[in-house]
Amino acid sequence: MTEIRTPRLLLRRWTDDDLVPLSEINADPDVMRWTGDGSALDLEETADAIERWEEEWDDEGFGLFAVELLASGELIGAVGLSAADDLPETRHQVQISWRLGRPFWGQGYASEAAQAALEFALQDRGLDRVVAVNRVGNEESANVIRKLGMASDGETSDPETGARVTLHSIDLTEYEA
Ligand SMILES: CC(C)(COP(=O)(O)OP(=O)(O)OC[C@H]1O[C@@H](n2cnc3c(N)ncnc32)[C@H](O)[C@@H]1OP(=O)(O)O)[C@@H](O)C(=O)NCCC(=O)NCCS
Repeated sequence: MTEIRTPRLLLRRWTDDDLVPLSEINADPDVMRWTGDGSALDLEETADAIERWEEEWDDEGFGLFAVELLASGELIGAVGLSAADDLPETRHQVQISWRLGRPFWGQGYASEAAQAALEFALQDRGLDRVVAVNRVGNEESANVIRKLGMASDGETSDPETGARVTLHSIDLTEYEA
């Protein structure tokens, strides 16, 4: 069972108890604004997402972590890794991403979880490169990418949504520098 503890957070695999709190996070249009077509997700779509992430954990040995607060056990969101197959530029690579419930923004939790997930990818899981894809305009997410020390690899369009996105990456050598 893959679990990571940071000073304030527990990153772990998903359980049935996460469905309702995650669907509350996914039902918030402000949270989902920059994801997919920008629509909020209902309970069934959230259940499908958890199932896909768990399958990825089983098949690939990485995935999106459920992130909970150590102090309260509360689920605050999803941070971690997934196949970056949506864009031709990142196909066959692994991306890092994050989504927290609005009450948990602005407290450094996303960066704390992302740093742990990046270390897991490059050092524990032995991946040689991790990428990030960010919608142009999503400044909060750009801030997390910057703090991870990821390099900029330019800009492209998401073929599915037409949205402009920026590309970023970090490899093990850059990470250890
Ligand atoms: C993107 C997202 C995860 C960023 O969350 P966030 O809380 O803003 O990110 P951080 O964890 O980096 O915290 C930001 C701020 O918390 C503040 N903060 C408060 N207490 C802190 C602490 N103890 N340690 C560190 N930062 C702290 C800092 O001011 C920090 O900002 P700074 O980097 O300018 O100093 C969040 O906005 C979100 O879930 N958005 C919706 C989903 C989304 O768009 N995801 C990306 C596309 S997939």
